[in-house]
Amino acid sequence: MPLFDANDVTAVSPLPPLHRSQFEPSGPPEPVVLPDGTRAWRVSRYPDVRKVLTDARFGRAQLHVPDTVPLTGQSGLVASADLMFNQDGEDHLRLRRTLRRAFTPRTVARWRPWIASIVEQRLDTLVDGPRPADLVAGFTLPLPVDVISRLMGLDNAARERLRHWTEYAFSDGSHPEEEMEPVLAEFAAFGAALLTERRKDPGDDLTSMLVGAADEEGGIAESQLVDLVCGLVVGGHDSTMTMLGNALLYLLAERRECWSRIGADEEAAGAVAERLLHLIPLGDDRGTARHVSVDTEVGGVTVPAGSMVLADCGAANRDPDVFPPRPFDDLFAPLAAPTLSFGAGPHYCLGAWLARLELQLSLHRLAARCPGLRLARPADEVEWRNGTTSRSPERIPVTW
Ligand code: HEM
Repeated sequence: MPLFDANDVTAVSPLPPLHRSQFEPSGPPEPVVLPDGTRAWRVSRYPDVRKVLTDARFGRAQLHVPDTVPLTGQSGLVASADLMFNQDGEDHLRLRRTLRRAFTPRTVARWRPWIASIVEQRLDTLVDGPRPADLVAGFTLPLPVDVISRLMGLDNAARERLRHWTEYAFSDGSHPEEEMEPVLAEFAAFGAALLTERRKDPGDDLTSMLVGAADEEGGIAESQLVDLVCGLVVGGHDSTMTMLGNALLYLLAERRECWSRIGADEEAAGAVAERLLHLIPLGDDRGTARHVSVDTEVGGVTVPAGSMVLADCGAANRDPDVFPPRPFDDLFAPLAAPTLSFGAGPHYCLGAWLARLELQLSLHRLAARCPGLRLARPADEVEWRNGTTSRSPERIPVTW
């Protein structure tokens, strides 16, 4: 019997599992004041969020120009003006073009055999090991790290430092400034050294491809390339790890009845992965920020020039005009409209197809190899990993 009903939005707890996150209902764009006093416009209906994310009048770069709209609560790599995610227009495209061939569905499909073999190796170690086991240490963390390390061509020393760098790159602001600086400097030095190495001695990894494409493209500052490489290294595993941990916690705690079908049918596992991606947020932040340069009409409301706009993808993914109510009921049903969990428009998640493949294979093969997998401790005793903008269980003790 489930501990709680994920469709019951009245259930509250101090730090609820992410699948129980509560979203303000979607409605017309409205001015809001954030907890730190920053003023913004919240946009929450599905078509309005799509408009904000796809319309060039809503940009990211202005959020990082001093004396315009301060993007408060952001620190670490995500606050860097050099990051691809913080560029607009041609500056953004120049960087994005260096990777455009790498992350297409077709390319990602070609990576499938080695990703599947990494999944199997991790599962071999897990099932041969002692029980109970920690699913985070044995599966949800090392798997995405293995994949991104292989893609980017990282050595073991870099792998060892990856989580440490990520905690600072994606800091939620709780790390003291005097700690942030040296760690981010060490991370940037790693990125710069990796680029230099691959320029001298290219391999078949993504970093080598990126360096070649950037040199061909021209006009890209080295600091931007460093941030691009560092962003891929941390962004390319943290979100997938977070999603996998939160999805498994939900499935094992509340939806064990789905487990055998996930193990028997890879396509069904893909549908579950897509629905959980759609419904379970990566953390407690509400909305991805943009800056609007001119008075712009959204959903019948004029958002004034110079405003910061928060596109609430979580609320939009539940917009009752687009998605039916009780969205957790049938995990195998296709979505009524494309999810906004990977964003939309020019900044649409570059790693979406890779993340989907990793999640689908992971859920399917774990359920196939461990049909009797179950939580070894109650879900409400879970401790949460904290300090970064994403949140997932620190440990998931399981047995089978
Ligand atoms: C479950 C996994 C993931 C989720 C939910 C996710 C989500 C997102 C979202 C929502 C955005 C756009 C944000 C916005 O427009 O405001 C984004 C951007 C991005 N993601 Fe992901 N992501 C995931 C995995 C990955 C992976 C595996 C990679 C790389 C290997 C990746 C690389 C990127 C990059 C580079 C951007 C910035 C794109 C740009 O600015 O043009 N992501 N992601």
